[in-house]
Formats: sequence, structure tokens, C-alpha cells
Amino acid sequence: MSKRVLVTAALPYANGSIHLGHLLEFIQTDVYVRARKQAGEDCVFMWADDTHGTPIQMRARREGITPEELVARAYDEHRADFDDFKIGYDIFYTTHSEENRKHAEAIFSTMEAKGDIATRSVEQLYCPHDEMFLPDRFVKGICPKCKSADQYGDNCEVCGSTYSPTDLGEPHCSICSSTPVLRDSEHLFVPLARHEEFLRQWLRAPADGGTTILQDSVRNYVMGWVDDGLRDWDISRDAPYFGFEVPGHPGKYFYVWFDAPIGYIAATDKWCADGGHDFDAYWKSDAETTEIVHVIGKDIVYFHCLFWPAMLHAGGYNTPSRVQVHGWLTVNGEKMSKTRGTFVLARTYLDQLPAEYLRYYFAAKLGQNQEDIDLNFEDFVNRVNAELVKKAANLASRSVKFITGRLGGTVGDLLSDAQPLVERAQQRLRDAPAMFANFESARVMRMAIEVAEDFNLYLTEGAPWKLSSSDPERARAICSAGIYATQVVAALLKPVLPDWAAKVERFLKLPAPLDFSTGAVPLPGGHALGEYETLAEPIKPEAIEAIIEASKETMGATTEPETAAAANADYTVPDLESEIAFDQFTPIDLRVGKVLACTKVEGSKKLLQFTVDLGPLGPRNIFSGIARSFEPEGLVGQHVMVVANLAPRKMKFGLSEGMILVAGDDDPGLTMPTLDPKTSKPGERIT
Ligand code: MSP
Ligand code: ZN
Repeated sequence: MSKRVLVTAALPYANGSIHLGHLLEFIQTDVYVRARKQAGEDCVFMWADDTHGTPIQMRARREGITPEELVARAYDEHRADFDDFKIGYDIFYTTHSEENRKHAEAIFSTMEAKGDIATRSVEQLYCPHDEMFLPDRFVKGICPKCKSADQYGDNCEVCGSTYSPTDLGEPHCSICSSTPVLRDSEHLFVPLARHEEFLRQWLRAPADGGTTILQDSVRNYVMGWVDDGLRDWDISRDAPYFGFEVPGHPGKYFYVWFDAPIGYIAATDKWCADGGHDFDAYWKSDAETTEIVHVIGKDIVYFHCLFWPAMLHAGGYNTPSRVQVHGWLTVNGEKMSKTRGTFVLARTYLDQLPAEYLRYYFAAKLGQNQEDIDLNFEDFVNRVNAELVKKAANLASRSVKFITGRLGGTVGDLLSDAQPLVERAQQRLRDAPAMFANFESARVMRMAIEVAEDFNLYLTEGAPWKLSSSDPERARAICSAGIYATQVVAALLKPVLPDWAAKVERFLKLPAPLDFSTGAVPLPGGHALGEYETLAEPIKPEAIEAIIEASKETMGATTEPETAAAANADYTVPDLESEIAFDQFTPIDLRVGKVLACTKVEGSKKLLQFTVDLGPLGPRNIFSGIARSFEPEGLVGQHVMVVANLAPRKMKFGLSEGMILVAGDDDPGLTMPTLDPKTSKPGERIT
């Protein structure tokens, strides 16, 4: 009996629109699920929106609506995007559901009964104006280490140190700017160290097909975290909080990351109840009969590879069989950026181009590893046009049209000289399921295009168009090889291009839906074909320009609905500093600096190391805590603003001899003010 396979993608936050970065993951997951279904496996895709937590609560407040309304609006928008991108989930549910409450309570209560929950009093900043405890990211102030102003409550973007919000100098509430006070509050913790043995064993365990639960590199760094010591995890938040109240602890709510992954279970519960499936078989059986596969981005590994398996283990549910981690999506080699028009929303793309082109491009780049994936627009256009249009679609179109237009519309038996090609194609169909099941869609896309290449060459060499009157039966046999290739290519592409495959099924009038085995069987001689339907058309460069233009315009507009409340209050800025005289400004010596080199710093997630040329003043080594917002390569050559007379500061990684000016927040991204290199010279004073 084949196993039940349950697959999930990360649950998108309900407070934002879907963008191409999300889609990298959701397309990867969908292709995986479709391929396993196509291979005849019992595979389901359980999914939902992630609806709880402070950001959603704050956003609703800003817009003057309830969190429930906000979440309902996001749900409709997300579903429309996913449906139009052909994401074939079996259910798309929500974490704000009774099923989710039930399972969150069950897991918590079981853990509490087993001694897996500790309570401790925590001193925390509280905003008397907003009447709430402030999460770390909602407090700003002066970094206790380097004294930089306007730093978040959890870490300093400038010097990279981490601390707690109570260490900040001059703390202020980022919602209302008033000064918070310290208050005690009871919090609930999961002492993760109690599960160290289990986690080590889980991390090491082999999964199916000789693979392990985690990719090697991921397992190594997760093991590293375990080796560094597992700290207690704070799973409660104080009211007001949009989420579920913790049973037996009035006024305490589950932290969003506690109930978010439980959403995978809740979605399954709902799907089982609606469709009469066996819930326990998925989450309460033993791993011998069920496989649970999570697909996630590299930013949420800690949650899925430590907290989550520990919760499931302690709560008495099945633990994941496999966690597949993918890298980050960059666009044109850089982090997606609203100013460059590369922060592209799902809808903006769909307004210009068919979903399947992006699905193909991502599938053609995704493999086992967790390296970042670049969407280079030029390469995107070239590959779609060269591979999908010129090779795969053209093969189908010329074979079908020739047979229907000149040879009466019926296929013939293949010639014996096509046999080696047919066998190679069949081998590829046999190899494909295992590659897909190992997340190696790029290899399958390569194989599909190779089949098209093989048979295009066969058609070109056989030149049936020269034979249609002299030897029409030979012409029919040659074109029938093209028909055969069309069905093989469609079977290989089907998990990625479901519409494409459906058209091929229609116009070839296939007796059964295409899969990895039906695709291998040639149509019998005399089989009548239908009318060709266009499979793909070349992408015009204007479509890309329109996407970039629209992404520049919609910046903010699509994600931030224009309500009166949002119009002037959708972000906060610190109060103005007290007034200064001009001669208090002049001591700050700002200079034009040309970035000669910029690299990531080994061992630091936040720092970039710069070599900045100040012309006659010489080069400077500068560390800046901005790595989350910039790709280093993109900064080389830029003329930037440097505070040139700041006292040099010794940091863990070396001496920092100045400061580069930036604006904004890491979310959605910092901006670096630059000067025109044609009119500014390194070393010039900025006044
Ligand atoms: N809500 C949490 C996940 C909870 S799972 C129980 C969350 N949501 S998210 O909307 O921020 O991200 C959803 C997924 O999209 C994550 O796996 C994340 O890594 C992925 N991506 C978001 N931006 C991305 C890119 N730019 N590139 C690739 N993946 C990205 O995290
Ligand atoms: Zn406040």
C-alpha cells in the first residue's frame, strides 16, 4: 500500500499581498504535489492563511476595521491569486478557525499536563497610551552598545548587537511615540531543552527514498543551534492580542507562531470533515503509513525544525517526515525592491502574462539545494521564448497542423528509425517521478526540452513537407513522431503547466489523461486529431516593462488600501529632534564616498563590509548593519553619503571608519541615498 502524503507550504501572513517571492515557494510546492499525484500517489496539499499576531492587529486598527474583517479580505485576495496561479491546494483554510483553536488547545493542554510548560514572570515594556505590552519590534530607542538612535527593541541594525527592549536608551512606542513603562507579566514557556534528545534523533533520521528529513546543509546549521543550547520559548502574549486565549490562563494568548503551524493540522481536520477522510490517519497514526512534507523558506527554519517537531512530539501528533527549505527569490540579481519596480505582486504579473510562464521559469530553476533563485527578466523572456515557444510549442504546432491540414487529420504508426528516440523519451518518463519527488523539477524541465529537441531534429531531417504529395504515408509517420513527442513533453511538463497539458489532451484527443505512463504509449495508427490550440506565444518585452512600471506605481497602493485612516497614518516616524543652529550642523562632516567593494560578513547576518573611496582623503573600511536590505553587488560603484569624521569604532569583525547614511526600515527595506556619479566626486563635502 502506498503511503498517504500530506504536503504543506508556509502559511502566508494575512496582512499583505502575495508577491513573486511567495510564489517561488507556492509554485515549488504545487509542482511537487501535482507530480506525486500524477505518479498515482495519495498526496494532498493542506494550506491556510496565517491570521494572528500584533502586525495584523495593528494594521486593522490603522485601517479602522476589525482584525476579522482584515483577515477575511486577505483571504479572498490570496485565494484569487492562488487560483489564477493554478496552485492546486486541496484546501486553503485559515488559522482563525475553531479547528485551529481546538488543536492548539489540545497540544497546549497535553504539554502542560506533561510538565512541558513553565511559567515565569517577565518584565516588559508597556505603553500606557495604547494600553498594551509592546512586542520587541514595536519599541525603538538608542542602542545600548553603539548608541545609534532609532533602533528596534531586539537588535541594533548599526552594530549588530542583540539585546532586550528594556536595554534601549530613551525607549518609545513605535505606534504612538510615547514613553513606555516597565511592567511585570506572567508568561508561558516551552522548555525546549527537555526535547533535546528527541530533536537530535529527529534531525538525524533518514526519510523516504534515501533522503533525510533535512537537506544536509540545513541539518548542519540546525544541529549547530541544538549544540549551542536550546532556550525556553515564550509562547504567550498579553491581551489585547488577536489570537486564541490560552485555556486556563485568562488574559494570555497563544503567540502567533504557536498556533500558525497548527494551522496545517486544522486545515487537514476541516478537509477531512468536509470530505469524509480519516484525520487520524494523517496526524495521529505512525509514520510508517503517512508522510508529512513541509516546504518553507530559509527564514523560518527555526520554527519548523525545532519548535514545531518538539510541539508535535510533546502534543502526541505525527512529526514531519521531511522539511524542504528553498532559498530567497531575487529579481535581476538583487533583493526585490519597490523603487526599482522589482517588488512584483502576484496580481501585477497576472495582469500582463500567463501564470504558466512564471511557473515554468521557477520550475526550470528549482532543485534540491537552498540557494537563492534569481528571476532575471531578460533570461526569463529568453528561456520562455526559446524553450517553451520555439522548441516545445513549435514541435506540437507544426506536427498537428501538418497532419490536420494536409493529411486528413489521422496519425500513423511510427517509423522504426524513430524507435531509439521513443525509447529515450520513455526512459525520461520513467525517471521523472523520482526527480519531482526529490524537488528536482529543473532536471525534469531539462529532460522535457531535450525530448522536444530530439524530435524537432527528427522532423527537420525527415522534412515531411517535401513528401506530402510524393510519399504522404511517410510524411504522416514522421509527423506522428512529432505528435508522440508532444504528448511526452506534455506529460513531463504537466505538473508545472496544467493548462498546457489539458490543451494537448484535447487537441490530440487522448484516450486518457496524461501521466507518466499513459504519456509513454503512442497513439494507434488511424487515431483522429482535433484542432490545434496555441500552447504558448513569445513574451514581448513590453509586458516586462509594464510589470515593472506597475510595480513602481502600485507600491503601497495594493498592499495598503486607501482608507481615510491609512492615508496619513500607515507608518510612523520618530519625532523631530530639537532644533539646532547651523554651526551645530557643520561639525558633522558628510562626504561623497564611492563604494569600491562591498561584501557580506562571514558570521553576521546584518553586517556588510564596505571599502569606500573618499578621493584625496583615501579609502575607508566601514561596517554597516544593513545586509538585510541590500545585495552587496548592487552597491558597488555607487556614490553614497558618508559621515567621515565619526570616531573609528572597533567591532568584532574589524575597525569601522565611518558611517553610510540610509533611510527607512528593514521592512519593507532600507533605501540608500546616492549621488549622481557624473556630477559628484569622491571626497566632496555634502552640506
Ligand atoms: N506566516 C509565516 C509562516 C507560517 S508557517 C506555519 C510566514 N509568512 S510569509 O508570508 O512571510 O512567508 C511565507 C513563505 O514565503 C515563507 O516560507 C517565506 O520564506 C517565503 N518567502 C517570502 N518572501 C520570499 C522571497 N523573497 N523569496 C523566497 N521565499 C520567500 O513566514
Ligand atoms: Zn504607544
